[in-house]
Amino acid sequence: MQLFDVYPLFDINPVKAQGAYIWDDKENKYLDLYGGHAVISIGHSHPHYVKRLKDQLDQIGFYSNAVKMPIQQELATKLGKLSAYESYNLFLCNSGTEANENAIKLASFHTGRKKVIAFKDSFHGRTSLSLGVTDDAKLSALVNKDHEVVFVELNNEKDFLAIMDNSVCAIIIEGIQGVGGIHVPTPSFLKMIQSSCEKEGAIFILDEIQSGYGRSGNFFAHQDAEVEPHIITVAKGMGNGFPVAGVLIHPKIKASHGMLGTTFGGNYLACAASLAVLEVMEQEKLMENAKTMGNYLVEKLIKLDGVKEVRGKGLMIGIETITNSAAIRKQLLEEEKVFTGYSASKNTIRLLPPLNISKNEADAFLKAFENVLQKQLQTI
Ligand SMILES: Cc1ncc(COP(=O)(O)O)c(C=O)c1O
Repeated sequence: MQLFDVYPLFDINPVKAQGAYIWDDKENKYLDLYGGHAVISIGHSHPHYVKRLKDQLDQIGFYSNAVKMPIQQELATKLGKLSAYESYNLFLCNSGTEANENAIKLASFHTGRKKVIAFKDSFHGRTSLSLGVTDDAKLSALVNKDHEVVFVELNNEKDFLAIMDNSVCAIIIEGIQGVGGIHVPTPSFLKMIQSSCEKEGAIFILDEIQSGYGRSGNFFAHQDAEVEPHIITVAKGMGNGFPVAGVLIHPKIKASHGMLGTTFGGNYLACAASLAVLEVMEQEKLMENAKTMGNYLVEKLIKLDGVKEVRGKGLMIGIETITNSAAIRKQLLEEEKVFTGYSASKNTIRLLPPLNISKNEADAFLKAFENVLQKQLQTI
C-alpha cells in the first residue's frame, strides 16, 4: 500500500526536535518558526510534557467516555482558570474541524435555526460544516455545498448588518484569520457582532484554533476586544502535537445526554498532554513571552528592506513582502534552515513559532530573513 498523495512535501525527514529546533536524518538543524502549523505551543519535546505523557501511559492510556475520568475535569478547571472562562463548560474532541462542527451543531440545537454568517478568506476546517463556513470553494465537493452560509467581508460592519437578522443561527469568526493571511478583526467589529447576536438571538462562535492558547499574547486573541462569545473552539496549541480539541460553551447552552459524542475525545493521554501545556504556559509565563517576543519581532521586521507590511498579534505574525514569498520561504528553508508558514494571501509569510522562543532564536531568524530578502531584492 502507498500513501494517498494529498500533501506537497518538503524533502526533509525530521528525526528529533527540542524547543524551537528540529533535526533531520542528515543531522541538519532547523529553526522552527512554523511550529508545525501553530501546533507547537510550549516547544518541541518539553521535558514536563514528555514526563506527563509517559507517566499517564504507565497508568492507563485509554478508556471510553462511558466511565468517569477525573482528569477531564482537572483539565476543564485549569483551562477555565487560565483562559478566564471559568463559568463555561468544556466538550473535548480531537481536531479543529471537529470542534467547529460541534460548535455550529450546538448553535443550531440551541436556536433551532440553520443560517450561518462567516467571513471572506476564512478557514475553519475540512469536514462538511466546517468547510461550509470556509471561504475556499475549491476545497469543497458537491456533498459539502448544501449549507446555508453567507460570507461577509471581515471588518465590514455595513455588509454584516445588512444580512444579520433573527433567522441567523450563528456567526463564526477566527480570533485572527490564519490561513487567509493574518487579518485581525477590529475590536469594534467584534463588539458589534456580539451586540447583534444578543439582539437577534444568534450564537457568537469564536474560532481560536490557531490564534488561541496564548499565541496572541492573551489566552485568546478576542480578549483584547473585551467580548465574550457564546462558544470558543480550540485545538492546535492545546496538545503541543497530541491530537486534542475543545469547545468552550456558555452556561446558557444546556447539555443533554447523547447531544454530542466522540470515541477518542478527552482520552487520558489527550488530557495529560493538555494539562502539561497549561502547566508549562503558567510556570514559564508563555503568554507574556509571546507578547514580548511578538512585539520585538514586529518592530525589527517592519524596518527590513523588502517588507511591505507586518500584521498580527503576539507570535501570530504575517509578513507581507514585496517579492515572491514562496521563493523566500524556499530559500529560508534550503539555505538558512528555517521553517516558516505559507498563507493564502499574496506574498504573506506566516510566523507561528513556539511560545517560548528566546531573543537569541528570534535574532537568528531575523538575520536569516534579512539575508534572504537581500538576495531576493537583487533579483528584481
Ligand atoms: C482557524 C482554524 N480553524 C480550524 C482549523 C482546522 O483544524 P484541524 O486541521 O485540526 O481540523 C484550522 C487549521 O488550520 C484553523 O487554522
